[in-house]
Amino acid sequence: MNKIIEIKNLTFSYPNTSNPILNNLSFSVKENSWTTLIGHNGSGKSTIARLLIGLLVAEKDKKDPYAIKIDGMELNDENIWKIRDKVGIVFQNPDNQFVGSTVEDDVAFGLENKGISREKMLPLVDEALSQVGMEEFKNSEPAQLSGGQKQRVAIAGILAVKPKIIILDEATSMLDPEGKKCILNLIKKIKQQYNLTVISITHDLEEVEKADEVLVLDNGKIILQDKPEVIFDNANLLNEIGLGLPFIYQLAEMLRQKGFLISKQANTQEKLVKEICQLSLKK
Ligand SMILES: Nc1ncnc2c1ncn2[C@@H]1O[C@H](COP(=O)(O)OP(=O)(O)OP(=O)(O)O)[C@@H](O)[C@H]1O
Ligand SMILES: [Mg+2]
Repeated sequence: MNKIIEIKNLTFSYPNTSNPILNNLSFSVKENSWTTLIGHNGSGKSTIARLLIGLLVAEKDKKDPYAIKIDGMELNDENIWKIRDKVGIVFQNPDNQFVGSTVEDDVAFGLENKGISREKMLPLVDEALSQVGMEEFKNSEPAQLSGGQKQRVAIAGILAVKPKIIILDEATSMLDPEGKKCILNLIKKIKQQYNLTVISITHDLEEVEKADEVLVLDNGKIILQDKPEVIFDNANLLNEIGLGLPFIYQLAEMLRQKGFLISKQANTQEKLVKEICQLSLKK
């Protein structure tokens, strides 16, 4: 599979901090994957998102320069706008992302920035709003929407410019379980429709379980990169860095400690229930 994002030897410090936040960081993301980036608070996840679209720029070491490549293109002054067209970010708090006075204006903003004419722009805005089920709110003020509706509009603004990569930086953390599920299903649908690559930054371990691949950030480096079930096999390491395990993995482990024979494959609710039923039938 193609690598759509490649980062090599990236070291980054904020101007007022002495220790680097990211320390010789290298990783890649597969095209069309749903990749989750996890790490404790302050580990540098949002910093990585900002570096990927050039909102932050790391210093180049002349001897050992870092490289950020997106969709085969080097991130530099010359390519930055082309790269920003390819990557859309949805942040945690949609209130900080609204620029338009109506939902329609807001979704149009990214297209206006690209210099697209009004007659070409309006159908694109309508299309994006209908994908997220918000057409009827076209003339509403963004401030008057609910949290989930705001996130939908923020996503429509990103979809309108048709990026290849969507980064969700804790984009569902303010939503209730139903709203969260709705937004994630929506992104999943759009991902398939447009062959998007999704990078989701999250603390929600149930969301992590659904990823194709998980990146674990600690101490400025990616310390693990693998499928969720392999990541959750490293319970001690995840606990050490304050991440813990999803409920089903915890429950399975507690049962094992009580002497029940629960296999490592029992990593979903259905599989665990089935194994528990089989155990009770054997008795
Ligand atoms: N503008 C800034 N200036 C100085 N330091 C910053 C700035 N933004 C973030 N930091 C510091 O950089 C580190 C990484 O921050 P970042 O926001 O990338 O973490 P994060 O992994 O996204 O955390 P969270 O899970 O809380 O969102 C933190 O120690 C933070 O205090
Ligand atoms: Mg963050």
